[in-house]
Amino acid sequence: MSGATLINMLAELDDQLWSRVSPDLYRSTLDRGVVLHERQGATPSQQAWLRRTFGGLWAEEVATGYAWFATDWDGNELGFAAYDCRLDFPWLRKWRDEPGVGIFGPMGVAESERKRGLGSLLCLLALQSLKNQRCTRALIGAVGPEAFYERVCGARRVEAFSRAQMLGVGLRHMLQSVATGKWRNR
Ligand SMILES: CC(C)(COP(=O)(O)OP(=O)(O)OC[C@H]1O[C@@H](n2cnc3c(N)ncnc32)[C@H](O)[C@@H]1OP(=O)(O)O)[C@@H](O)C(=O)NCCC(=O)NCCS
Repeated sequence: MSGATLINMLAELDDQLWSRVSPDLYRSTLDRGVVLHERQGATPSQQAWLRRTFGGLWAEEVATGYAWFATDWDGNELGFAAYDCRLDFPWLRKWRDEPGVGIFGPMGVAESERKRGLGSLLCLLALQSLKNQRCTRALIGAVGPEAFYERVCGARRVEAFSRAQMLGVGLRHMLQSVATGKWRNR
């Protein structure tokens, strides 16, 4: 996430989406022993890896949704891209009920594996999964590397909030949610 500003982006899930995956990159990634798989939630060891590698609330967030994971042949985690996660962040709230919009993220690649195309592949796999669920657009919340998403999937900035603004909304909502028992609302 960048400094004091929180940015939401939207990606169009059109018929060109999958053509953004280079067949050479896909083949060479598999050839170097990367295994790609999709699952609901995250195992305890995947959550431990997410906490160790990225921190924040990503382990908890991924556990509520679906994700593509990349591992090596020994099962070591290399990266992930999640979608349809349900932690109730204020910057996502208005998008959850928007027809045709799927929620993408978070995603990340282990530092030693970056800049080899794995992030692009995982991102496009997760977006394609949303498209397969009949979503026509994906909201990529609270990015992150804006230029990466512009480049990989043509996403565009749709909103920017100050962190202070979001923190205020978040605290108010959290207090309401705790009072009504709806803090996590799958
Ligand atoms: C962002 C991230 C997932 C990219 O993974 P990656 O495997 O290095 O990405 P790729 O190798 O597929 O990069 C694809 C393209 O995006 C560019 N790119 C990669 N990271 C970038 C960044 N942080 N900012 C701008 N461009 C970036 C690459 O240079 C590459 O461009 P090219 O096609 O001209 O070579 C990875 O850096 C990461 O995990 N960062 C920390 C976690 C994070 O910020 N996640 C996003 C949360 S919203």
